[in-house]
Formats: sequence, structure tokens, C-alpha cells
Amino acid sequence: MRRVTIDTREDRAHELDGVPDPASRREDFLIPPAVGGDFPLTAYLAGNSLGLQPRATRGELMADLDAWEQYGVHGHADADRPWFPYHEELRDPAARLVGAEPREVVIMNSLTVNLHLLLASFYRPTPIRHRIVIEDYCFSSDSYAVRSHVALRGHDPDTAVLRLRPRPGEDVLRTEDVVKTLNDHAHSIATVMLGGVNYLTGELMDIPAITAAGHRIGAMVGWDLAHAAGNVPLHLHDWDVDFAAWCSYKYLNSGPGAIAGAFVHARHVDDTTIPRLEGWWSTEPASRFEMRPESEPQRSADAWSMSNPPIFAMGPVRTSLQLFDEVGMEALRARSLRLTSYLRDLLTVLAGRTEIALVTPAEDDRHGAQISVRVLGDVIDLTERLSANWGVVADDRQPDIIRLAPAPLYCTFHDCWRAADALSQELTGEGIA
Ligand SMILES: Cc1ncc(COP(=O)(O)O)c(C=O)c1O
Repeated sequence: MRRVTIDTREDRAHELDGVPDPASRREDFLIPPAVGGDFPLTAYLAGNSLGLQPRATRGELMADLDAWEQYGVHGHADADRPWFPYHEELRDPAARLVGAEPREVVIMNSLTVNLHLLLASFYRPTPIRHRIVIEDYCFSSDSYAVRSHVALRGHDPDTAVLRLRPRPGEDVLRTEDVVKTLNDHAHSIATVMLGGVNYLTGELMDIPAITAAGHRIGAMVGWDLAHAAGNVPLHLHDWDVDFAAWCSYKYLNSGPGAIAGAFVHARHVDDTTIPRLEGWWSTEPASRFEMRPESEPQRSADAWSMSNPPIFAMGPVRTSLQLFDEVGMEALRARSLRLTSYLRDLLTVLAGRTEIALVTPAEDDRHGAQISVRVLGDVIDLTERLSANWGVVADDRQPDIIRLAPAPLYCTFHDCWRAADALSQELTGEGIA
């Protein structure tokens, strides 16, 4: 066995932070002050739950408020960033982020709402082909969404929702098992809807392989990208994904409850036979104010949008997407892998000293910027102690998982060291070094 010596000294973290990295944009963010510990700022490893505020957001938001003050209703056309086409500014950067053609994406609503709107189109059950496949341990909202869709169409959620489970004794799904389940139930599956990166385990799924497997059995395949957008490089168009949705408040740093995104593959936006829930924002802008009874759906993902967009919610998304454009997903991913692998090394040392287990897969192509750690004892209490005693902000999922996410735009190697050190102090009474 190859023996690797891991340098657990705090100075090593400082050395790593001393290497210039253009993908680190920490100075562009507001880091919350620590409530406890020796450092003034938190080591914020909860960006997979709620990302931090970019410094530019406040000014941009104020500019939109000023425009409202100055122009009233005329702001729709006359504001510096006119409100009527405001969402167009978000389209190109959002498309670049998820690897889509611009007409395949739209920024709108919240994540679960978007999943519902997309399921209305891409879950089209027949008496035989009526099942939806999800992960058993998907985020609860997705389970509620698919169960309600199934029930709405007259099927029994307990039998029509097929829940994928890892093998006994394992924490994450294997692609081969997912594919096998799809093949085993080939004729009854209408739609597959999985998390691109699982919120709990941090597992990055093989999106292209599973999408292709779903298509081979004649199913529609969609992805909840809440934990993948802004975290890992995505190529939704080339991967032939049918539909996807994501939120903007995690890795995308657009603020609590921020407006979400949706993707519909180009082949569907051109298909006029697809049923859809519509509103006046679905229709062609040129005829929108003709107030006709029938819509003239846009040949883009905008056909799935309904209402005029909330301008003050769009500004923070625009500001955030600019940062992603400046850094680029490839550079960000490279930094993300470096940080996550450093954190993993330290946690592996800790796992040799006390009973914790690293749930997230170790291989680079199977994780994003998150490591889920299984711990013994009261996980809520532990998370609170990490913050109160060490200024480390992590995120717990009952009953026994702590999630640590070194979001690469603003997290440092020293943040990772602080997280591992705090966990070590709390679990063993000694530091990691
Ligand atoms: C994977 C996943 N799906 C869905 C949701 C629900 O998001 P929303 O409240 O924005 O609809 C979340 C929220 O954190 C999530 O992590």
C-alpha cells in the first residue's frame, strides 16, 4: 500500500494560500464575522446551503431601486437596465454556466416551482409508462414534487415513484446500478429526475451516462442541479439532457431564496406539441401586449416562463453570474478540486483517529465542492459547537451527517484547515496538527 504523509500543520495551509490563484475571488465577497474562536471571520463552509454575498450586489440592487424611484412605470423601457428585457442580460451567462444554448435557459421562479413546470411538460404518463425515478434520499422537495405530479395524473405515488437506493452497506449510487434499474423497468418509466450532485452525500452523478441510459429506454431525463450549478462544469446541451432546474442561492451566491434557473433542450423548445403551463411571459414579446386569448409561445425556454420577472431578485443573479464569467468554470473547478482534496486529506487523518466516515466519493469525477462526513453523536449540537467554539460554519443533516463545502470563489486552504482542526478538537479533544 502506498503510504502518503499528510502535512497537517496550519502553516501548510498558509503556504497553499500563498500561491496566487485567479480563481480565488475572496476579496469580492463579504465574509461573516465569527461568533467564536480565535479568528475574526468565519471559516464559511456552508456555501452549498447558502452562498455568501458578493460585495457588488448591494450597489447593483440599489441602482435598480434608484431606477424605480426615478422612472416609475417608465423604468420598463427607460431605466439604465430597462426592466422589460432585463432577464435577457442573464441568459447568456446562465447558458455558459450550464453548457447550454442561450435559448435553452431561462431565469425564473424558485427551484421547486421550476421542477413542477418542467414536470408538467416532461412527465407525460400513459397507463403503462407512468413511473418517475428519483433517488431515495433526494431532497424532500423533489420527492414531494414528483409524488404530487404522479397523484395529479391519477397514479399511486407509492408504486409510481421508483426510488433508487445504494447497495446495502454503501452510501452512494453506482452508475451501473442506476442503469440496471432503468433497464429492469424499461417499459414503465416515463421520467427520470435525479440530483446532479446529491445534496446529502455530495455524490456527483454521471449525468451524460444516466441521461443516455434513460433515453435508451424511451424516458425523459431531467436533473435537479441545485448543488451542481456553479459547482461543477456542466454541458447540458451536449449531454442531451431533456430538462433541468437549479437554484441560485447556493454556489451562485445570489441571496436567500434567489430566483432560479431552468433548462429545456433545444429539440423541445422547437416542438410545438409539448403541453405546457403558460402565462403572458410565455408568449412572443412582440405580441404580448395585444392581449390575445391564445398565446404565441416563444421558441425558447422562455415559453415555460409565466410572469413578468422580479427585477430586484434578478440583479443579484446578474452580479453573481458576472463573477462566474470572469473566473470561468474550468479554473473554478480546478481550484475546487485542490481545496476539496486538501480538506479530504485532513479529514482522512482525522478518520484514522476517531470514528468518522467520509461519505462523499473520493474520485475527482464523482464529487463537487462538498465533503459529507458521518459522525457519531448529536450532529446539530456538533455543528453549533463548531461555530460557537471555532468560528467554523458547516451544515448538518440529521441524523448523522455534517456537510463541509469549501466553495472555491471565497474559501481558502486555511478555512479547510480550520474546519478539520475544529472537528478534530470537538471529536478528539486535540487539534489536527
Ligand atoms: C437538491 C435540492 N432540491 C430542491 C431544493 C428546494 O429548493 P427551493 O426551496 O428553492 O424550491 C433544495 C433546497 O435546498 C435542494 O437542495
